[in-house]
Amino acid sequence: MKNNSKKSEPKSQSQKSSIFANDNKNVAECVVLKSAGYPFDFELMENTLEITDKSLFEQYARDQWLGMEVNSDSYLFDQKIIPDFAFKVVCVRPENSIISEQTKIKIIIEDKKDSSLKSTKSDVKICDVVGQDNAKNKIKVIEKFLVEPESFGMWAPRNVLFYGHPGTGKTMLVKGLAGEVDVPLYLVKATSLIGEHVGDAASKIHDLYEKASKNSPSIIFIDEIDAIALHRSFQSLRGDVSEIVNALLTEMDGINENDSVITICATNNASSLDNAVRSRFEEEIEFKLPSDDERYEIFEKNISTLPLKHDLNLKKLVKVSKNMSGRDIKEKILKTALHHAIASDKDCVDMADIDYALNSSKIKVNDVKGMFE
Ligand SMILES: Nc1ncnc2c1ncn2[C@@H]1O[C@H](COP(=O)(O)OP(=O)(O)OP(=O)(O)O)[C@@H](O)[C@H]1O
Ligand SMILES: [Mg+2]
Repeated sequence: MKNNSKKSEPKSQSQKSSIFANDNKNVAECVVLKSAGYPFDFELMENTLEITDKSLFEQYARDQWLGMEVNSDSYLFDQKIIPDFAFKVVCVRPENSIISEQTKIKIIIEDKKDSSLKSTKSDVKICDVVGQDNAKNKIKVIEKFLVEPESFGMWAPRNVLFYGHPGTGKTMLVKGLAGEVDVPLYLVKATSLIGEHVGDAASKIHDLYEKASKNSPSIIFIDEIDAIALHRSFQSLRGDVSEIVNALLTEMDGINENDSVITICATNNASSLDNAVRSRFEEEIEFKLPSDDERYEIFEKNISTLPLKHDLNLKKLVKVSKNMSGRDIKEKILKTALHHAIASDKDCVDMADIDYALNSSKIKVNDVKGMFE
Protein backbone atom coordinates (compact mmCIF):
# COMPACT_ATOMS: atom_id res chain seq x y z
CA MET A 1 0.00 0.00 0.00
CA LYS A 2 1.32 3.43 -0.85
CA ASN A 3 0.37 6.94 -0.08
CA ASN A 4 1.91 10.04 -1.60
CA SER A 5 2.30 11.71 1.76
CA LYS A 6 5.83 11.26 3.06
CA LYS A 7 4.59 10.48 6.53
CA SER A 8 2.53 7.58 5.26
CA GLU A 9 4.92 5.00 3.96
CA PRO A 10 3.47 1.58 3.16
CA LYS A 11 2.62 -0.17 6.39
CA SER A 12 2.25 -3.80 7.31
CA GLN A 13 -0.64 -4.95 9.48
CA SER A 14 1.54 -4.86 12.63
CA GLN A 15 2.74 -1.37 11.81
CA LYS A 16 -0.88 -0.34 11.46
CA SER A 17 -1.71 -1.44 14.95
CA SER A 18 1.27 0.43 16.30
CA ILE A 19 -0.03 3.64 14.82
CA PHE A 20 -3.02 3.47 17.13
CA ALA A 21 -0.83 2.55 20.06
CA ASN A 22 1.87 5.22 19.61
CA ASP A 23 0.38 8.10 17.72
CA ASN A 24 -2.01 10.64 19.03
CA LYS A 25 -3.34 11.18 15.53
CA ASN A 26 -7.01 11.87 14.99
CA VAL A 27 -9.18 9.14 13.63
CA ALA A 28 -10.74 10.00 10.28
CA GLU A 29 -14.51 10.43 10.47
CA CYS A 30 -15.01 10.48 6.76
CA VAL A 31 -12.83 10.08 3.69
CA VAL A 32 -14.07 10.86 0.20
CA LEU A 33 -12.26 9.12 -2.64
CA LYS A 34 -12.37 9.31 -6.38
CA SER A 35 -10.85 6.79 -8.75
CA ALA A 36 -7.77 8.28 -10.40
CA GLY A 37 -6.52 5.36 -12.53
CA TYR A 38 -3.02 4.03 -13.01
CA PRO A 39 0.03 6.26 -12.76
CA PHE A 40 0.70 5.55 -16.46
CA ASP A 41 -1.07 4.08 -19.47
CA PHE A 42 -0.19 0.72 -20.85
CA GLU A 43 -1.84 -1.75 -23.14
CA LEU A 44 -4.57 -4.10 -21.89
CA MET A 45 -5.28 -1.93 -18.87
CA GLU A 46 -8.50 0.02 -18.44
CA ASN A 47 -8.02 3.30 -16.65
CA THR A 48 -11.63 3.49 -15.55
CA LEU A 49 -13.46 1.68 -12.83
CA GLU A 50 -17.11 0.90 -12.23
CA ILE A 51 -18.22 0.55 -8.64
CA THR A 52 -21.72 -0.83 -8.36
CA ASP A 53 -22.05 -1.36 -4.62
CA LYS A 54 -20.77 1.56 -2.58
CA SER A 55 -21.12 -0.12 0.82
CA LEU A 56 -19.22 -3.20 -0.38
CA PHE A 57 -16.48 -0.92 -1.68
CA GLU A 58 -16.42 0.89 1.66
CA GLN A 59 -15.79 -2.36 3.50
CA TYR A 60 -13.11 -3.39 1.02
CA ALA A 61 -11.41 0.00 1.17
CA ARG A 62 -11.49 0.27 4.95
CA ASP A 63 -10.03 -3.17 5.33
CA GLN A 64 -7.02 -2.57 3.13
CA TRP A 65 -6.27 1.00 4.18
CA LEU A 66 -6.95 0.60 7.87
CA GLY A 67 -4.36 2.58 9.84
CA MET A 68 -3.27 4.74 6.90
CA GLU A 69 -2.80 8.43 7.49
CA VAL A 70 -4.69 10.46 4.90
CA ASN A 71 -4.69 14.07 3.72
CA SER A 72 -6.79 15.79 1.07
CA ASP A 73 -5.26 15.52 -2.39
CA SER A 74 -3.06 12.54 -1.51
CA TYR A 75 -3.49 9.15 -3.20
CA LEU A 76 -4.24 5.67 -1.93
CA PHE A 77 -3.19 2.74 -4.10
CA ASP A 78 -5.14 -0.48 -4.38
CA GLN A 79 -3.14 -3.55 -3.39
CA LYS A 80 -5.70 -6.26 -3.72
CA ILE A 81 -7.79 -6.70 -6.86
CA ILE A 82 -6.15 -4.12 -9.10
CA PRO A 83 -2.71 -3.37 -7.67
CA ASP A 84 -1.45 0.17 -8.16
CA PHE A 85 -4.79 1.53 -9.28
CA ALA A 86 -4.92 4.94 -7.58
CA PHE A 87 -7.71 6.65 -5.64
CA LYS A 88 -7.44 10.34 -4.99
CA VAL A 89 -8.41 11.54 -1.52
CA VAL A 90 -10.85 14.31 -2.41
CA CYS A 91 -11.33 15.32 1.19
CA VAL A 92 -10.90 13.93 4.66
CA ARG A 93 -12.40 15.02 7.94
CA PRO A 94 -10.43 15.94 9.98
CA GLU A 95 -7.35 16.58 7.86
CA ASN A 96 -4.30 14.49 8.58
CA SER A 97 -6.14 11.67 10.29
CA ILE A 98 -6.07 7.91 10.30
CA ILE A 99 -8.48 5.44 8.74
CA SER A 100 -10.10 3.33 11.44
CA GLU A 101 -12.88 0.75 11.64
CA GLN A 102 -15.30 3.64 12.21
CA THR A 103 -14.19 5.76 9.27
CA LYS A 104 -16.82 6.30 6.61
CA ILE A 105 -15.29 5.88 3.18
CA LYS A 106 -17.19 7.36 0.27
CA ILE A 107 -16.39 6.98 -3.37
CA ILE A 108 -17.42 9.48 -6.02
CA ILE A 109 -19.01 7.78 -8.96
CA GLU A 110 -19.41 9.82 -12.12
CA ASP A 111 -23.13 9.83 -12.76
CA LYS A 112 -23.58 10.60 -16.41
CA LYS A 113 -27.31 10.97 -15.87
CA ASP A 114 -26.98 13.54 -13.07
CA SER A 115 -28.57 16.54 -14.71
CA SER A 116 -28.26 18.73 -11.60
CA LEU A 117 -24.61 19.34 -12.40
CA LYS A 118 -25.10 20.14 -16.07
CA SER A 119 -24.47 23.61 -17.35
CA THR A 120 -27.52 25.67 -18.26
CA LYS A 121 -28.66 27.96 -21.05
CA SER A 122 -31.42 30.46 -20.43
CA ASP A 123 -33.82 32.73 -22.37
CA VAL A 124 -33.65 35.54 -19.81
CA LYS A 125 -31.45 38.52 -20.66
CA ILE A 126 -29.60 40.80 -18.27
CA CYS A 127 -31.56 43.81 -19.52
CA ASP A 128 -34.81 42.08 -18.45
CA VAL A 129 -33.77 42.69 -14.85
CA VAL A 130 -35.00 46.11 -13.76
CA GLY A 131 -32.69 48.14 -11.48
CA GLN A 132 -30.04 46.35 -9.34
CA ASP A 133 -27.29 48.41 -10.98
CA ASN A 134 -24.51 47.38 -8.58
CA ALA A 135 -25.09 43.75 -9.36
CA LYS A 136 -25.31 44.44 -13.08
CA ASN A 137 -21.96 46.27 -12.95
CA LYS A 138 -20.34 43.29 -11.28
CA ILE A 139 -21.89 40.98 -13.88
CA LYS A 140 -20.37 43.22 -16.56
CA VAL A 141 -16.92 42.69 -15.04
CA ILE A 142 -17.52 38.94 -14.89
CA GLU A 143 -18.57 38.90 -18.54
CA LYS A 144 -15.39 40.75 -19.53
CA PHE A 145 -13.32 38.35 -17.49
CA LEU A 146 -14.93 35.34 -19.15
CA VAL A 147 -14.09 36.67 -22.58
CA GLU A 148 -10.49 37.50 -21.71
CA PRO A 149 -9.44 35.80 -18.47
CA GLU A 150 -5.71 36.27 -19.17
CA SER A 151 -5.98 40.05 -19.05
CA PHE A 152 -7.08 39.99 -15.38
CA GLY A 153 -4.11 38.01 -14.02
CA MET A 154 -4.26 37.99 -10.25
CA TRP A 155 -7.12 40.51 -10.27
CA ALA A 156 -9.72 38.09 -11.55
CA PRO A 157 -13.19 38.11 -10.00
CA ARG A 158 -13.65 34.93 -7.93
CA ASN A 159 -16.46 34.72 -5.39
CA VAL A 160 -19.42 37.06 -5.18
CA LEU A 161 -22.43 37.09 -2.87
CA PHE A 162 -25.84 38.40 -3.91
CA TYR A 163 -28.05 39.00 -0.91
CA GLY A 164 -31.31 40.69 -0.14
CA HIS A 165 -35.06 40.55 0.01
CA PRO A 166 -36.75 37.56 -1.67
CA GLY A 167 -38.02 38.09 -5.21
CA THR A 168 -35.76 41.00 -6.12
CA GLY A 169 -34.00 39.41 -9.11
CA LYS A 170 -30.94 37.56 -7.77
CA THR A 171 -31.65 34.30 -9.56
CA MET A 172 -33.08 36.14 -12.55
CA LEU A 173 -29.87 38.13 -13.04
CA VAL A 174 -27.72 35.01 -13.02
CA LYS A 175 -30.09 33.36 -15.49
CA GLY A 176 -29.71 36.51 -17.58
CA LEU A 177 -25.97 36.05 -17.49
CA ALA A 178 -26.42 32.41 -18.57
CA GLY A 179 -28.50 33.65 -21.49
CA GLU A 180 -25.78 35.98 -22.69
CA VAL A 181 -22.41 34.45 -22.06
CA ASP A 182 -21.18 31.55 -24.04
CA VAL A 183 -19.55 29.68 -21.19
CA PRO A 184 -20.83 26.84 -19.03
CA LEU A 185 -22.89 28.04 -16.11
CA TYR A 186 -23.77 25.61 -13.34
CA LEU A 187 -26.96 26.68 -11.59
CA VAL A 188 -27.26 24.72 -8.38
CA LYS A 189 -29.80 24.93 -5.56
CA ALA A 190 -27.78 24.53 -2.39
CA THR A 191 -30.20 21.95 -1.00
CA SER A 192 -29.55 19.71 -4.02
CA LEU A 193 -26.00 19.33 -2.75
CA ILE A 194 -27.13 17.69 0.46
CA GLY A 195 -27.07 13.92 0.18
CA GLU A 196 -28.49 11.10 2.20
CA HIS A 197 -25.20 10.01 3.73
CA VAL A 198 -22.20 11.59 5.39
CA GLY A 199 -19.74 12.52 2.67
CA ASP A 200 -22.36 12.82 -0.09
CA ALA A 201 -22.37 16.60 0.01
CA ALA A 202 -18.59 16.83 0.01
CA SER A 203 -18.38 14.60 -3.03
CA LYS A 204 -21.14 16.48 -4.86
CA ILE A 205 -19.44 19.81 -4.19
CA HIS A 206 -16.13 18.40 -5.34
CA ASP A 207 -17.76 17.03 -8.49
CA LEU A 208 -19.33 20.36 -9.26
CA TYR A 209 -16.06 22.26 -8.93
CA GLU A 210 -14.15 19.66 -10.87
CA LYS A 211 -16.60 19.88 -13.77
CA ALA A 212 -16.53 23.67 -13.72
CA SER A 213 -12.75 23.63 -13.58
CA LYS A 214 -12.45 21.21 -16.48
CA ASN A 215 -14.76 23.40 -18.56
CA SER A 216 -13.39 26.76 -17.43
CA PRO A 217 -13.89 29.61 -17.93
CA SER A 218 -17.16 28.86 -16.20
CA ILE A 219 -19.53 30.06 -13.49
CA ILE A 220 -21.01 28.25 -10.54
CA PHE A 221 -24.18 29.74 -9.08
CA ILE A 222 -25.17 28.34 -5.70
CA ASP A 223 -28.66 29.59 -4.93
CA GLU A 224 -29.97 29.75 -1.36
CA ILE A 225 -26.48 29.18 0.02
CA ASP A 226 -27.78 29.79 3.57
CA ALA A 227 -29.43 26.37 3.39
CA ILE A 228 -26.00 24.76 3.64
CA ALA A 229 -23.42 27.31 4.74
CA LEU A 230 -25.06 28.29 8.00
CA HIS A 231 -23.39 30.39 10.62
CA ARG A 232 -22.04 28.31 13.51
CA SER A 233 -24.73 29.53 15.86
CA PHE A 234 -27.39 28.06 13.56
CA GLN A 235 -25.56 24.85 12.77
CA SER A 236 -27.09 22.89 15.65
CA LEU A 237 -30.44 23.35 13.90
CA ARG A 238 -29.19 21.22 11.04
CA GLY A 239 -26.94 18.24 11.38
CA ASP A 240 -23.85 17.81 9.27
CA VAL A 241 -23.53 21.30 7.86
CA SER A 242 -19.93 21.60 9.01
CA GLU A 243 -18.99 18.91 6.51
CA ILE A 244 -20.61 20.93 3.74
CA VAL A 245 -19.07 24.21 4.87
CA ASN A 246 -15.63 22.59 4.96
CA ALA A 247 -16.08 21.01 1.55
CA LEU A 248 -17.17 24.33 0.11
CA LEU A 249 -14.20 26.14 1.63
CA THR A 250 -11.81 23.49 0.34
CA GLU A 251 -13.15 23.87 -3.19
CA MET A 252 -13.37 27.66 -3.14
CA ASP A 253 -9.75 27.86 -1.97
CA GLY A 254 -8.63 25.04 -4.22
CA ILE A 255 -9.50 26.83 -7.43
CA ASN A 256 -6.18 28.06 -8.69
CA GLU A 257 -5.61 31.27 -10.55
CA ASN A 258 -5.59 29.67 -13.98
CA ASP A 259 -8.88 27.89 -13.52
CA SER A 260 -11.15 30.87 -14.30
CA VAL A 261 -14.06 29.54 -12.27
CA ILE A 262 -16.34 32.16 -10.72
CA THR A 263 -18.65 31.35 -7.83
CA ILE A 264 -21.77 33.45 -7.34
CA CYS A 265 -23.86 32.63 -4.29
CA ALA A 266 -27.26 34.00 -3.32
CA THR A 267 -29.04 34.30 -0.02
CA ASN A 268 -31.83 36.29 1.61
CA ASN A 269 -29.85 36.78 4.77
CA ALA A 270 -26.09 37.26 4.60
CA SER A 271 -25.75 37.41 8.37
CA SER A 272 -26.89 33.80 8.73
CA LEU A 273 -23.87 32.60 6.74
CA ASP A 274 -20.83 30.91 8.20
CA ASN A 275 -18.15 33.57 8.74
CA ALA A 276 -15.43 31.56 7.03
CA VAL A 277 -17.58 31.14 3.91
CA ARG A 278 -18.64 34.78 4.04
CA SER A 279 -15.06 35.98 4.23
CA ARG A 280 -14.30 34.29 0.88
CA PHE A 281 -16.58 36.68 -1.02
CA GLU A 282 -14.70 39.60 -2.51
CA GLU A 283 -17.97 41.52 -2.77
CA GLU A 284 -21.39 41.30 -1.14
CA ILE A 285 -23.98 42.95 -3.32
CA GLU A 286 -27.35 43.88 -1.92
CA PHE A 287 -30.53 43.48 -3.95
CA LYS A 288 -33.00 46.14 -2.92
CA LEU A 289 -36.76 46.38 -3.28
CA PRO A 290 -37.63 48.31 -6.45
CA SER A 291 -38.10 52.08 -6.37
CA ASP A 292 -41.24 53.75 -7.78
CA ASP A 293 -39.66 54.09 -11.22
CA GLU A 294 -38.43 50.51 -11.15
CA ARG A 295 -41.85 49.17 -10.18
CA TYR A 296 -43.33 51.17 -13.03
CA GLU A 297 -40.94 49.44 -15.41
CA ILE A 298 -41.57 45.98 -13.94
CA PHE A 299 -45.35 46.48 -14.30
CA GLU A 300 -44.92 47.82 -17.83
CA LYS A 301 -42.74 44.91 -18.98
CA ASN A 302 -45.00 42.27 -17.48
CA ILE A 303 -48.28 43.86 -18.59
CA SER A 304 -47.05 43.85 -22.18
CA THR A 305 -46.92 40.04 -22.04
CA LEU A 306 -50.45 39.48 -20.64
CA PRO A 307 -52.50 37.18 -22.85
CA LEU A 308 -55.63 39.39 -22.45
CA LYS A 309 -56.25 43.02 -23.31
CA HIS A 310 -55.68 45.37 -20.40
CA ASP A 311 -57.00 48.60 -19.04
CA LEU A 312 -54.68 49.44 -16.16
CA ASN A 313 -53.56 52.65 -14.52
CA LEU A 314 -49.78 52.32 -14.16
CA LYS A 315 -49.43 55.30 -11.83
CA LYS A 316 -51.99 53.81 -9.45
CA LEU A 317 -50.29 50.44 -9.66
CA VAL A 318 -46.98 52.02 -8.64
CA LYS A 319 -48.67 53.67 -5.67
CA VAL A 320 -50.36 50.54 -4.34
CA SER A 321 -47.28 48.35 -4.80
CA LYS A 322 -44.92 50.24 -2.49
CA ASN A 323 -42.52 47.81 -0.76
CA MET A 324 -43.40 44.96 -3.08
CA SER A 325 -40.73 42.93 -4.83
CA GLY A 326 -40.61 42.13 -8.54
CA ARG A 327 -41.90 38.66 -7.71
CA ASP A 328 -44.83 40.06 -5.69
CA ILE A 329 -45.75 42.28 -8.62
CA LYS A 330 -45.65 39.48 -11.13
CA GLU A 331 -46.91 36.51 -9.16
CA LYS A 332 -49.21 37.99 -6.55
CA ILE A 333 -50.66 40.98 -8.31
CA LEU A 334 -50.60 40.55 -12.07
CA LYS A 335 -51.03 36.78 -12.21
CA THR A 336 -53.89 36.77 -9.68
CA ALA A 337 -55.56 39.68 -11.49
CA LEU A 338 -55.22 37.90 -14.84
CA HIS A 339 -56.63 34.66 -13.46
CA HIS A 340 -59.50 36.54 -11.87
CA ALA A 341 -60.33 38.17 -15.20
CA ILE A 342 -60.19 34.81 -16.97
CA ALA A 343 -62.36 33.15 -14.31
CA SER A 344 -64.90 35.98 -14.71
CA ASP A 345 -65.00 35.35 -18.49
CA LYS A 346 -63.68 38.83 -19.19
CA ASP A 347 -61.52 39.62 -22.21
CA CYS A 348 -59.70 42.47 -20.46
CA VAL A 349 -57.75 42.78 -17.21
CA ASP A 350 -58.74 45.96 -15.38
CA MET A 351 -58.28 47.72 -12.05
CA ALA A 352 -61.16 45.73 -10.49
CA ASP A 353 -59.07 42.58 -11.03
CA ILE A 354 -56.08 44.32 -9.46
CA ASP A 355 -58.25 45.22 -6.44
CA TYR A 356 -59.22 41.58 -6.13
CA ALA A 357 -55.53 40.56 -6.28
CA LEU A 358 -54.52 43.11 -3.67
CA ASN A 359 -57.27 41.95 -1.33
CA SER A 360 -56.55 38.28 -1.76
CA SER A 361 -52.76 38.60 -1.63
CA LYS A 362 -51.21 38.15 1.76
CA ILE A 363 -49.18 41.32 1.34
CA LYS A 364 -50.78 44.28 3.02
CA VAL A 365 -50.62 47.30 0.77
CA ASN A 366 -48.00 49.83 1.89
CA ASP A 367 -46.98 47.58 4.75
CA VAL A 368 -44.54 45.17 3.22
CA LYS A 369 -41.37 45.20 5.22
CA GLY A 370 -38.11 43.54 4.23
CA MET A 371 -37.78 40.16 5.85
CA PHE A 372 -34.68 41.08 7.78
CA GLU A 373 -35.19 44.76 8.36
N1 LIG B 1 -35.47 43.42 -10.65
C1 LIG B 1 -36.40 42.72 -11.33
N2 LIG B 1 -36.69 43.03 -12.61
C2 LIG B 1 -37.63 42.34 -13.28
N3 LIG B 1 -38.31 41.29 -12.78
C3 LIG B 1 -38.04 40.94 -11.52
C4 LIG B 1 -37.07 41.63 -10.73
N4 LIG B 1 -37.02 41.05 -9.53
C5 LIG B 1 -37.88 40.02 -9.56
N5 LIG B 1 -38.50 39.95 -10.74
C6 LIG B 1 -39.52 38.95 -11.11
O1 LIG B 1 -39.68 38.07 -10.02
C7 LIG B 1 -39.27 36.75 -10.37
C8 LIG B 1 -38.51 36.12 -9.22
O2 LIG B 1 -37.25 36.75 -9.07
P1 LIG B 1 -35.95 35.97 -8.59
O3 LIG B 1 -36.25 34.52 -8.58
O4 LIG B 1 -34.80 36.40 -9.40
O5 LIG B 1 -35.83 36.48 -7.11
P2 LIG B 1 -34.70 36.16 -6.05
O6 LIG B 1 -34.09 37.46 -5.66
O7 LIG B 1 -33.79 35.12 -6.57
O8 LIG B 1 -35.60 35.61 -4.86
P3 LIG B 1 -35.23 34.55 -3.71
O9 LIG B 1 -34.36 35.28 -2.75
O10 LIG B 1 -36.56 34.21 -3.12
O11 LIG B 1 -34.56 33.39 -4.36
C9 LIG B 1 -38.44 36.91 -11.62
O12 LIG B 1 -38.49 35.76 -12.42
C10 LIG B 1 -39.08 38.11 -12.27
O13 LIG B 1 -40.23 37.72 -12.98
MG1 LIG C 1 -33.48 33.11 -6.01
